[in-house]
Amino acid sequence: VKVGALISGRGSNLQALIDAAQAPDYPVEIACVISNRPDAAGLDRAEAAGIPAEVVDHTLFPTRAGFEGALSESLVSAGCELVCLAGFMRVLTASFVELWRDRLINIHPSLLPAFPGLDTHAAALAAGVKIAGCTVHFVRETVDAGPIIGQAAVPVLPGDDADSLAARVLGAEHRLYPHCLGLVASGRTRIVGQRVEITDAAT
Ligand code: GRF
Repeated sequence: VKVGALISGRGSNLQALIDAAQAPDYPVEIACVISNRPDAAGLDRAEAAGIPAEVVDHTLFPTRAGFEGALSESLVSAGCELVCLAGFMRVLTASFVELWRDRLINIHPSLLPAFPGLDTHAAALAAGVKIAGCTVHFVRETVDAGPIIGQAAVPVLPGDDADSLAARVLGAEHRLYPHCLGLVASGRTRIVGQRVEITDAAT
């Protein structure tokens, strides 16, 4: 299955997907990487892996519709059937989400539905939770909502600050995202209302 990855920055989750896709039995080819920011370090990771990488700079588009049209055009011309948001920091409109409905997935560094949005680690620490984690979900119009494909938990430890917690969660993200993308790409996810059922591997 050809997958496009949308990034805005560092691209460590992109790297985890690229690394997973090296395995011969992993059902995904990362077919293109698109960044909305020209300076995203993740672009270098794509190039190092020989993956076509492109900048679609949102500041050059007068409208969101124009920006998202350019994103979709690049994804379609690369043959992408699934799209992974991997640290992509632009909110996508309902029309983009509808166009890619059930084929668009995101990773968020909290145990959703707790702590959606930005500054999630600071919010988790302020709330005093003892368990943190990350969520991979299908994207819906509401930010950080949508049917949950998988979650991974990590402990909050005494003395944690937002950076130390983020680093621990990030380690879990790098395991969870390839796992969940593999489930979707191999047809093992079925969306039932708000929930995702994971079915057995086809035999
Ligand atoms: C990750 O924590 C991801 O969950 C969040 O933004 C961060 C991106 O990191 N949405 P990277 O660019 O994948 O390194």
